[in-house]
Amino acid sequence: MSANEFSDRVRGPRMDLTTALSNDDDVLVVGLVAADDDGESDPSLLLVEDFLDDDAAEGIARALRAVGATGGTGEVTRIPAPESLPVDAVLSVGVGAASRLDDPDTVRQAAGTALRALDGSARVVTTLSAAGIGPAAEGAYLGAYRFDEMRSAKSRSTKQPPATVLLAVAAANKGTKNKQARADLDRAVIVAESVAMARDFVNTPPNVLSPAEFADRARILGSAAGLSVEILDDAELEKAGYGGIIGVGKGSSRKPRLVRLTHEAKGAQQRVALVGKGITFDTGGISIKPAAGMENMTSDMGGAAAVIAAAVAAARLDVPVTVTATVPMAENMPSATAQRPGDVLTQYGGTTVEVLNTDAEGRLVLADAIVRALEDEPDYLIDTATLTGAQMVALGTRTPGVLGTDDFRDRVATISQEVGENGWPMPMPSELRSDLDSRVADIANVTNHRWGGMLSAAVFLREFVSDDVQWAHIDVAGPAFNTGSPWGYTAKGGTGVPVRTIVAVLEDIAGTD
Ligand code: BES
Ligand code: MN
Ligand code: ZN
Repeated sequence: MSANEFSDRVRGPRMDLTTALSNDDDVLVVGLVAADDDGESDPSLLLVEDFLDDDAAEGIARALRAVGATGGTGEVTRIPAPESLPVDAVLSVGVGAASRLDDPDTVRQAAGTALRALDGSARVVTTLSAAGIGPAAEGAYLGAYRFDEMRSAKSRSTKQPPATVLLAVAAANKGTKNKQARADLDRAVIVAESVAMARDFVNTPPNVLSPAEFADRARILGSAAGLSVEILDDAELEKAGYGGIIGVGKGSSRKPRLVRLTHEAKGAQQRVALVGKGITFDTGGISIKPAAGMENMTSDMGGAAAVIAAAVAAARLDVPVTVTATVPMAENMPSATAQRPGDVLTQYGGTTVEVLNTDAEGRLVLADAIVRALEDEPDYLIDTATLTGAQMVALGTRTPGVLGTDDFRDRVATISQEVGENGWPMPMPSELRSDLDSRVADIANVTNHRWGGMLSAAVFLREFVSDDVQWAHIDVAGPAFNTGSPWGYTAKGGTGVPVRTIVAVLEDIAGTD
C-alpha cells in the first residue's frame, strides 16, 4: 500500500452512546463481578440496573452461574439472551473482584477482552460504560483493533470485528451530564485512534516502512491532523551535522530522515518537546544481533510511532500546550558502508562519541534529536524508545521504565499508572557516568560492563539534556510490542504504548484533565 492510499482508510468501529437496547443490536456485553473471597456472595452483573429490568438481569445472572461463569478477569461467557430482550446473545466479561473497579483500567481491559471475542457480530451494545464511558470506549476500540493490511483475501478472516459499538448511558443523564458523556466518548475515540495509528506504524513490516516511507506517512497523517511538518533528508542531515543519525543510518541503502511535527496551541503557556526512537529495523549493525528473535526488531521504531501519534492526538484534542515531536528515523544495517565498532562520530551540537557497539544505536539517534529539540527551549522534554533489552530484564515485558529529572519522572510514572500503561520510576546512579568514559572521545556509547543497562542508556542521554528542562525518558523495549498472546485490549504485535501516557501528561501540563 502506498502512503497516499493508506491515509484515508476507514478503521475501527463506529462508537456512539445509547440509552436503550434496540432490535438492531446483535450482542449485549455485560460485566460480571467475581464473588467475594469469603464466598458469601455470587458472581453479579456490573451496573445494569439503568438498562435492564430486574427479571432480565436476574435471568442473565442465573444463566451465567448455571454455565459456570465466575467473573474472573479475562473470562468471557456467551449465552442466549432472555426472551424479553431484543438482542440475540449476551456476552459476559469477567472484571474480577469488586475492589478492582477502583482502577479504570479494569473496565478498559474488560471491554477489550469482550471486543476480541465478538468477530462476526455487526453491532454490539455494552453496559460496561456505566462504570466509565471513556475507559469502556477506549478498551472496546482497541480490543477491536486488527492489522490485516498485509493479508491477501485468502487469509483475511471473513469474520470482522463489530462495525458499531454502542455504549449505554442512563436515560436520566440529561443536560450537562449528557454533554460530559459525549465529551468523554469523543476524547476516548481520538486517543484510541492515535493508539491504533502507533500500532499500525509498528505492525507495518520493515521492508515497507523504510525511513523515507515512515517520514512520508508521518507527514500525511500529521498534516491531516493540522500539525506543521518539517522533514530533513540525508543530505540535509549530513550538512547540518547530525552525526548520530548519519552514523547509524549509513549502513543502509535506505537513507535516514528527521521529522518534526508541531502542534502550535493558541495562547499556550508551556512548550513540550517529544522525541521518539525511529529505527525502522535494528539488525545491530556490524555488532550484529543473533538471528533468533531478530524479526521483533521491526518494533524498534515504537517510540517514534508513539510520539507521532501523541502529537496527532494533541492537535485533534486541541490541548493548550505547544508540542513539537522531533523524530529521527534510520535503519541499522551491516554493510560495507556501515559504521564500525571503534568509530568516533560527532553528534549534532558537537559532542563526540566513540561507538564501541553499533547495536547501541538508539541513543545515538536520540542524542541528535534531543539536542535539536532543546533548541526550541521547551519547558518539558519527553523521549521514548525501545532502547534496551535491560528494560525487560529489570521490569518485564509490560512495565515501561521511566527515568529523568526526579519530579517530572515521578509525575510521568504516576500518570502512566493512572492510564493503565504502568510505567515505573527508575534511578540514574551517577557512578555509571564514568563507566561511559571513552579512551578517545567525549563519551562512549556503551559501558564497560553489562549492569544496569537501562539506567546507563539514560545516563548517556543525560549528557545531551540541559539542566533547565524537566525531562522524562520512557524505555518501552518490551511494552511497545507484544510477542505473547493477546490480553485485554492488547493485541499481538504493536501495542501503542506509551501513547496514552504521553497524551495524559500533555493534558496534565495544560491543566485540562
Ligand atoms: N533495539 C534494541 C533494544 C531492544 C531489545 C528493544 C529487545 C526491544 C527488544 C537496542 O538498540 C539494543 O540493541 N540495545 C542493546 C544495548 C547494548 C548493546 C548496550 C541491548 O539492549 O542489548
Ligand atoms: Mn540495537
Ligand atoms: Zn535498537
